[in-house]
Amino acid sequence: MSNENCAVSLANVSHQFGDLAALTEVNCQIKAGQLLALLGHNGAGKSTLLKVILGLIKPHHGQVTVLGQSLHLGRKQPLNIGYLPENITFYDKLTGYELLCYFAALKGVGKVRVKRLIEEFGLEYAQHKPLKGYSKGMKQRLGIAQAILSEPQLLLLDEPTVGLDPQASEFLYQKIRTLTELGCAVMVSTHELNLIEPQLDVAMIMGQGRKLAFGSMAQLLQRSSLPVIIKVPDIVRRVTRYGYLAEFYHDGVLQCPISQTESLVEYLTTECQIFDFVIEKPGLAALYHEKITPLQQASSEGIAFQPLQHPVLVGA
Ligand SMILES: Nc1ncnc2c1ncn2[C@@H]1O[C@H](COP(=O)(O)OP(=O)(O)O)[C@@H](O)[C@H]1O
Ligand SMILES: [Mg+2]
Repeated sequence: MSNENCAVSLANVSHQFGDLAALTEVNCQIKAGQLLALLGHNGAGKSTLLKVILGLIKPHHGQVTVLGQSLHLGRKQPLNIGYLPENITFYDKLTGYELLCYFAALKGVGKVRVKRLIEEFGLEYAQHKPLKGYSKGMKQRLGIAQAILSEPQLLLLDEPTVGLDPQASEFLYQKIRTLTELGCAVMVSTHELNLIEPQLDVAMIMGQGRKLAFGSMAQLLQRSSLPVIIKVPDIVRRVTRYGYLAEFYHDGVLQCPISQTESLVEYLTTECQIFDFVIEKPGLAALYHEKITPLQQASSEGIAFQPLQHPVLVGA
C-alpha cells in the first residue's frame, strides 16, 4: 500500500499498563476512504488502540503513522482527526449549541457548520437547553457532531451507536459514508455486529490485545473454517438420489468449506437440476465468535495469557 493512500499504519504496536499487555504487536493499515470496524470483547484493547492512533497514549513498542506523519518522530503539523470517546461526558451547564460552538472555535470551524450539524442531527429543539437535561442518545448525537465538525481526514469513533435509536444509528452510518466518499478514513469500535456488517470495508477482530483477524468480509470468509450452509428442500430424498451430496449432508442441510461452495453449487444446478436452494454464508457475528470463543474457553480453563515480552519503559 503506498504511503499517501494510507491513513493509518501500525507496525508491531505494543503497550502495557503495568503487568497487563493491553496491546501486543498489533499491525494494521487503513486506506483513505475506508471504514474499518474495530471489534473485540470488553478489554480487548480497542479503546487503547484508538488512543494510540490519536497520540494520547505513547506505545512502548512499534511504529504509528497517521495521515503521513510518524507519531514516533513527533507531529510536524496539526492533523485533522475527529474523535468520539467512549462514554463521553460534557460540562452540563452548557447548552448543546454552546458546546458545539466551543469545539468549533477550537477547531477553527464557523458557526454556520454548527447550525447545520445541529439541524442534521435533529437537535434543533434542544439546542438552547443545558446539557444536564439531554438524554444519553442526545448527548451521543452531540458527541458525534463534534467529532465530524472539522470534516476530518481521519475519524475515530469509540462505540458511537451506544444509546442511539435505530434511525439515529442509520443516520450516523449515512453521514460516515458521505465522509468516506470524500476520502476520510473511519475507524468504528462497536459490539453491534449486525449494524456494522453492511457498512464496513475492513474489519479487525481483537482479542486480549492482539489482532486475531483483519480483512474485508470476503477475505475473512476465505480464511474462516466455518462451513457455508446450503438449504435444499426435501433434502433427504435428493441426497438418496444423488449420492455425491451425502458427503456434504449434515443435520438436515448441505455444509461445505467456503472454497468448495462454487463446485457444489455447480453440481446442484447442472447434475441434479436443483435450483431451489438457499446459500447461507457465515456472517460477521459467526466470524467474530469463531475467533473469540477459543480465547474465552482457554481463559476459563485457566490458561494464562502470555504477557508482553518487550521491555517496559518505566514512565514512558
Ligand atoms: N489507563 C489504564 N490503566 C490501566 N489499565 C487500563 C487503562 N486503560 C485500559 N486498561 C486496561 O487495558 C485493557 C484494554 O482496555 P481497553 O482498550 O479499554 O479495551 P476495550 O476498549 O477493547 O474494551 C483492559 O484490560 C483495561 O482494563
Ligand atoms: Mg473500549
